[in-house]
Amino acid sequence: MKKKPFDKYEYYLRSVQSPEADAQFLQRKYQSLRGEKAIVLREDFCAAFALCCEWVKANKNQQAIGIDLDPETIAYGREQYVPLLSADQKSRLQLIRKDVTKKNLPTADIICALNFSYFIFKEREKLKSYFSSVLASLRPGGVFFLDCFGGSQCQHAIEEETEFQGEGFSYFWDQDSFDPVTHNALFHIHFKRKGEAKRKKVFTYDWRMWTIPELKDILAEVGFKQTVVYWEGTTKSGEGNGVFSPVTKGEECEAWVAYLAALR
Ligand SMILES: C[S@@+](CC[C@H](N)C(=O)[O-])C[C@H]1O[C@@H](n2cnc3c(N)ncnc32)[C@H](O)[C@@H]1O
Repeated sequence: MKKKPFDKYEYYLRSVQSPEADAQFLQRKYQSLRGEKAIVLREDFCAAFALCCEWVKANKNQQAIGIDLDPETIAYGREQYVPLLSADQKSRLQLIRKDVTKKNLPTADIICALNFSYFIFKEREKLKSYFSSVLASLRPGGVFFLDCFGGSQCQHAIEEETEFQGEGFSYFWDQDSFDPVTHNALFHIHFKRKGEAKRKKVFTYDWRMWTIPELKDILAEVGFKQTVVYWEGTTKSGEGNGVFSPVTKGEECEAWVAYLAALR
């Protein structure tokens, strides 16, 4: 049988995204913080807005707004994901091609910046200005969710392969460089389908590795009342178990991912 043409967004979704689980996670955490359900989700840096689609599918009251600068990724989502939604679900989805740092963006109960997208802001003032405009767009009781990653392993040039056995491909997370002075780091995603050459640098990220205390300080400076940090629990063998709980203290760890919830 002939293989489907390589679709980088499909492989990105299969390797690094879990939009259905993310939609549930955000609603669950919002509810435990605020005692009621969120209605409107704004997904900043939404790319192909898979999370927005899951949000409108999860409940008939829920509305989603996706914002991204890139016309190509938005067009991809419109072609691939929107046709899978019902007319009612489509009516609760809004897409905006805009810079997330601009003023007067739509308000929401939850605003999220996931998969570390805000790491593109390398200057503190730029990040601060973005956080400030997020705060201005949150409805009363609103919560801003962002994720963050780190650990000693993220400060070394290494490449890690994840084999998706049964799906016939490998995903490679390539940490090209890390600068301890600036905390700037360059990453690439490569893919290799079984029987084919490795496709190198399918996605590249030129980021600043922000730390949790830096993020908490900036969020407080722009006026968020409180920031809750969610840290992942571990299995008996010491692997992450996918369960994130509020903490005031983390654990030493080679590589970690955490979530922050900043309350308006
Ligand atoms: C890492 S990707 C998106 C990841 C996606 N949120 C996820 O969870 O997988 C980053 C996206 O941010 C978008 N982007 C970069 N700078 C932006 C900006 N200033 N305003 C809006 N979108 C931006 C890019 O076009 C790209 O689609």
